[in-house]
Amino acid sequence: MQTMFTLRLFKPDDLDTVMQLNRSYLPENYSSLFFMDLHRRFPKTFIVAEEDKAIIGYVMCRIETPFPGVGLLGVAKRGHVISIAVTPKYRRRGVGSMLMKKALAAMVEYNAKQCVLEVRTGNTGGINLYRKLGFHVKRTIHRYYADGEDACVMARGLPYEPGSGN
Ligand SMILES: CC(C)(COP(=O)(O)OP(=O)(O)OC[C@H]1O[C@@H](n2cnc3c(N)ncnc32)[C@H](O)[C@@H]1OP(=O)(O)O)[C@@H](O)C(=O)NCCC(=O)NCCS
Repeated sequence: MQTMFTLRLFKPDDLDTVMQLNRSYLPENYSSLFFMDLHRRFPKTFIVAEEDKAIIGYVMCRIETPFPGVGLLGVAKRGHVISIAVTPKYRRRGVGSMLMKKALAAMVEYNAKQCVLEVRTGNTGGINLYRKLGFHVKRTIHRYYADGEDACVMARGLPYEPGSGN
């Protein structure tokens, strides 16, 4: 069954719902200040999915310059997916993919040339989602998460084009 969801930019009124989703479905939780700071700085890459006016998923990102201060020397900016989650009832219907695709397109608007993210090595669903979008595992960070689990660092070039990982 195809879900009739829509995507739109996050707005401050969504904060409580998005924080609730974050706390319910991810072990990595953040303060309201952190969410609002990313919204203020990078509004185009903070996106929610809605169905029947209820938020069923979100993606929140940051735009980074790997070596701050040397941006003028041509070091490429990159988008960093900080957090993404979809309500379990709505999973495997393309919501996560569409959130990611919209975020990747928005990263290009911020002039990012690459997208990076961390995902738990045991998060098969997440890893499959990112692989399907052309991400590759770059390296593993041992005990990256607070509970000791390792992280895969995954990346792909931008712009996103279906079928290419660049
Ligand atoms: C990861 C997550 C965002 C995926 O959202 P989603 O809406 O289900 O993703 P999609 O429907 O777009 O899935 C796209 C593809 O990803 C892969 N995938 C997604 N979930 C999967 C799972 N549980 N097991 C295996 N593959 C999975 C599949 O290849 C899927 O394509 P298919 O359904 O045609 O087989 C969602 O499972 C979630 O919120 N998980 C908890 C939070 C989380 O782990 N976030 C990522 C942290 S890095």
